Order: sequence, then structure tokens, then C-alpha cells
Amino acid sequence: MAVARKKKPVNKPATKKTTSRKPVAKSASAAKPAKSAAKKTSNPLGLEKKAPGQFDTLQEIALAAHHKLPAPVWDHLMGGADSEATLRRNRASLDALALRQRVLVDVRNIDLGTTLLGQKLAFPVFPAPVGGFLGKVHEEGGPAVARAAVSRGTTAFIATAAKPSLEAAQAAVKQKLIFQLYVRGDRTWIEGILDRVSAAGYGALCVTVDRNYYGRRERDIVSGLPVKEGFGDQSFQASLNWKDLVWMKARVGLPLIAKGVATAEDAELAVEHGADVVYVSNHGGRQLDHAQGSIEVLAEVVKAVAGRAEVLADGGVQRGTDVVKMLCLGARAVGVGKLLGLALSAGGEAGVARMLELMELEVRTAMGLMGVTSIKQLGPQWLRAVPILGTPSSVSAYPLLEDAVRRNTR
Ligand SMILES: Cc1cc2nc3c(=O)[nH]c(=O)nc-3n(C[C@H](O)[C@H](O)[C@H](O)COP(=O)(O)O)c2cc1C
Repeated sequence: MAVARKKKPVNKPATKKTTSRKPVAKSASAAKPAKSAAKKTSNPLGLEKKAPGQFDTLQEIALAAHHKLPAPVWDHLMGGADSEATLRRNRASLDALALRQRVLVDVRNIDLGTTLLGQKLAFPVFPAPVGGFLGKVHEEGGPAVARAAVSRGTTAFIATAAKPSLEAAQAAVKQKLIFQLYVRGDRTWIEGILDRVSAAGYGALCVTVDRNYYGRRERDIVSGLPVKEGFGDQSFQASLNWKDLVWMKARVGLPLIAKGVATAEDAELAVEHGADVVYVSNHGGRQLDHAQGSIEVLAEVVKAVAGRAEVLADGGVQRGTDVVKMLCLGARAVGVGKLLGLALSAGGEAGVARMLELMELEVRTAMGLMGVTSIKQLGPQWLRAVPILGTPSSVSAYPLLEDAVRRNTR
């Protein structure tokens, strides 16, 4: 998305790079509340006194973002399309799976390492592309996310609309990142952007394929948040076909990721047309409403791909246990969208680094408690279908946040 009216982002760029994988401690002054925010009272949990690196839980990060973001921006980040059925199904389908546990296994050492297109990831979680939203809450969203991801040993997807530019995000780190493309012009426009992507040194091209129309996010329409329906001419995205992907891959000369695949049929076509990675996603419930939850379609995609490409997934992931469930069903690594937006809003670059660190801790804790020492051991045998507890939503993974949203206390 792109936001039409320019407003001061919530967070200023971090002044110091995070270069090691040590816990991050940053000044709370890096994350000032937005001026446009409604009158703020002191957060009941005193979270505004915590530096981003001192958040002890993901829940605190989400609460701090809730405290800081003006209601329309919060709704834009956390909302979905139309009735938000897809959004809720992303959580509901994760909640409908329980983890099995084995005991008395030596779990002192747990290997969370994996690879993506040959690149080592310290743990299987990465920031998904969240477009212009980064610029809305942080003056240099792209480089901040890039640095935070690399400092934690993972990779990041940098969106076409990321601010200040695709070049700035890649230049912020030595490691090759992944560029995510929305098509907003003709072949000449695409050639121009693909040439910039390869010149900037990106390691892979991700084409998002579930955005041929802009989902009707009614929270934004009703609140009047000045969100442009994307940028440029969207009809080019609407006209894309599989052969265009073949051409783009050849033109850019990089591995190709097709993001937004949700059926076995399209997974097959993606592989046939040269996708090196099939990325299962429904855009966090922001596009087609009344679709299946992401994890519901993961197994059929993995089966159709049959080892011919790598499989990534996202959708509703807000806990380490969510990541483990996705891995059990065949995802190689898992993206976070809303959680990335929350972390950047709560604490800028340091907030994102801390979010990734806490995610890693949660994945490690879950695997240890399951009696698993390597992600290679995960598979469907660790899952059982269970009745859902409560009402799944984009805040239901964080009970304290759910309370704050229900009481409308910020
Ligand atoms: C604020 C926001 C902006 C997004 N912008 C993009 C984008 O520019 N390109 C894209 O491919 N996906 C975009 N997405 C979708 C995410 O990449 C990802 O698929 C989704 O957020 C995952 O679901 P989750 O939010 O439940 O983690 C966006 C998501 C959000 C929340």
C-alpha cells in the first residue's frame, strides 16, 4: 500500500546499527508517539518506559504499538478485507492445530538453522514485505528492517513501495536480500525496476501474485485513512500471467519466488514456470475475503510442489508455536507481516530486532518442550486437529492486547 498524505512517521531512523546477534538495547526516545495520535494517557503497563530492546514478550511489543499508533493506522495494519473472514481464518486454522509433545529427550541443544535458496538462516522466520507501511511508521523503514533482520541472522523481503528506496534497503546490509515486486507499469517500467534490483545486489526476485485487484479494506474506507489503492497503474498487475513470470526471471537473472499461491493447481503452474520458491500466502487476509486460512492450504501446496521448489508461508503467524506448526506442514521458513508492523511501530529497528529475537526464543522453547532438537524432525506427525478456543482474530494470540482492544484502552 502507499499512503497518500505525507505525515511524520512514528519512528525516526535508528542512529546505531545492530550488527551482532546480541540482545538489543536501545533508547526509548527512538520511538516517539505520533503527533497525530489521539490524546495519550500513560500506558497502564508502563511500556513507554521500556526501551525496545527491553521488551520481554511479543505481547508487550504489540501493546506498545497499540498504545502508540493512531486508531486508523492501527486498523490499517491489523485489519483485513471486507468481512475479515480470511483474516480470522488465518488465526482460526492455526488455533485448530495442537502440538504433540515427547518428554525425557535431551533438548539442551536445538538446531533452528535452515537455508533459503542456499542462504543460511539462523532460524526460520523472516520479515514479510509490508510495502509503504514501513515508511508510515518509520522514516527509513526499508533499511531499518534490513539491518534488524540481518543482525538476527535471517533475511528480509523488501517491497516495491518500501521507503526510502529499494537501493537504500539493500545498501544497508552486506547480505543479499529479497526484492518483492508489484507491477505498476508496462514492460519498459518492469525492465527499469528489474535492472535496478539486480544493480542494487538483491539475491532473489519475489513477485506477488495475489494482488491483481486491491482488496476492499473497509476499516480504511470508513476511517478515511488516506491510503492510495497502491501506486502507479494497477491494471498492469491485473494483466499478469505465468509467462510474464518466466520473462521476469530471465530478465533479472535471479531466483524467482511466487508469493500468494494458495492452491495445488497454482503451485504446479508456478513450478512449471520456473518458480524456485512457492510462497503460500493470502496477504494476511487483506485481499480475497472468504478464502481458506494459510495453514489450511499449506499441505496441498507442499504436496503439489513435491520437492521441486522450496516452500515459504505466512498468514496469522504471531507466536513461535505458529511457526512450528507451519514447519510441521512443510514450510521451510515463515514470514511475519502484521507482527513486523507492530515491532517497527513499537520500537523502530531495535523493536524489529527484538521481535525476531523473541520469536526465535519462542520457537526454541516450543521445540524444546515438544522434545525436538532440529527443525528437520518436524512433520505432520506432531500435529493434531483440536476444537478452537475463544474467538480467533488478529489480536487473539496476545490476551493482554485483546483485553486492551476490547476495553479500548491505549
Ligand atoms: C501493512 C501491510 C502491508 C503489506 N504490504 C505488502 C506488500 O507491499 N507486498 C506484499 O507482497 N505483501 C504485503 N503485505 C502482506 C504481507 O507480506 C504478508 O503476506 C502478510 O502480512 C502475512 O500475514 P500476517 O500479517 O498475518 O503475518 C502487507 C501486509 C501488511 C499487514
